[in-house]
Amino acid sequence: MWYFVSPEVVFGPDSAIRLSQLAGKSAFIVTDANIVKLGLVEKVKEQLSQAGMESTVFDGVEPDPSIETVRKGAALMSEYGPDWVVAVGGGSVMDAAKAMRVEYERPDMTIEEVFGWTSGLGLGAKSRLICIPTTSGTGAEATWAIVLTDTAERRKLSLGCRETLPDIAIVDPAFAAEMPPGLTAQTGMDVLTHAIEGFTSTWRNDISDGLCLRALQLVFRYLLRACRDGQDMEAREKMHNAACIAGMGFGNSMIALAHAAGHSLGGVFHVPHGRAVGLFLPYSIEFIGEAHEELWAEIAHSIRLEIPKGEKAGPALARAIRGLAGSIKEPLSIKEIGISPDSLDNSLEKLVDNAFADAALIMAARVPSVEEVEKLFRYAYDGKSIDF
Ligand SMILES: [Fe+2]
Repeated sequence: MWYFVSPEVVFGPDSAIRLSQLAGKSAFIVTDANIVKLGLVEKVKEQLSQAGMESTVFDGVEPDPSIETVRKGAALMSEYGPDWVVAVGGGSVMDAAKAMRVEYERPDMTIEEVFGWTSGLGLGAKSRLICIPTTSGTGAEATWAIVLTDTAERRKLSLGCRETLPDIAIVDPAFAAEMPPGLTAQTGMDVLTHAIEGFTSTWRNDISDGLCLRALQLVFRYLLRACRDGQDMEAREKMHNAACIAGMGFGNSMIALAHAAGHSLGGVFHVPHGRAVGLFLPYSIEFIGEAHEELWAEIAHSIRLEIPKGEKAGPALARAIRGLAGSIKEPLSIKEIGISPDSLDNSLEKLVDNAFADAALIMAARVPSVEEVEKLFRYAYDGKSIDF
């Protein structure tokens, strides 16, 4: 039995007006200090007050949020007792808000205990969740997945179940308009990685396939434009939609090898999520190679990528992705990120262990061995195409 789940998605310019139509008494806004500075939280509060709601703000979410931050926010949430939780921010903020709400609704459980639950938490008795993304990347507004960081162990923790899905996603491009080019680029690579992995993981399915294909078409058409000119609101809107569509796609399929390797690299070296997974995307396509030739060809066809005679679609697609990444100044190798060869050597065992601890690894069409993952990191360090 398969499920397709999605929040109510309100999208396009001025979709934040949806907040003024909510019924409720109070809202707990989860965000970070930068989003407050940009004036976006003020906009949200205004709409909530039009709905006759009181609100309070927790702006202490850091990039790669820790379990400690989640506990702190959840304690304040419990004191306040909101009937709406409103996340305004990027993936870190939305993931932290999802996790805080779990603790708020289920004070009898710790967040670690929630790990592995697939349903039956009974969330929603106290509150509903709205996510308003301010980056066009993670698609966390449309997925139930929660990624937290265990700071002591230098690793990522993935948890969540269908019930941690937001009730409403507000995909208003005005909230992403202030992203600087570097952030637009790295989060855009996350969208592309979701779309391609969602379309090719072993959990791919007929319902999510179309979403993934549409999202990757939008990325190839609009990401470069959004990076070159942040005022290009058509490109901004299309990328904001693409992030949400890819979220619905991979959220109902799965992510795979590029995410397992990228999560690992991010956990050890604090590389931003989209940059880390985007870097591994072409390597993972090359590694999976002919096992998915038909799917690579379908993707190539959907973006009108010409494949030179005698070449397979997989390598051509990997090259096109490197071309796009290069044009928006994203690194093509681990070396380019500025990690020294010694740091890589010293952390290699940890990197491989982390990748194997990530559930996404086994969703790849070709599951690598320990030796192959080690080689994958070494090749990605040097920027060398996979030939094994
Ligand atoms: Fe991602």
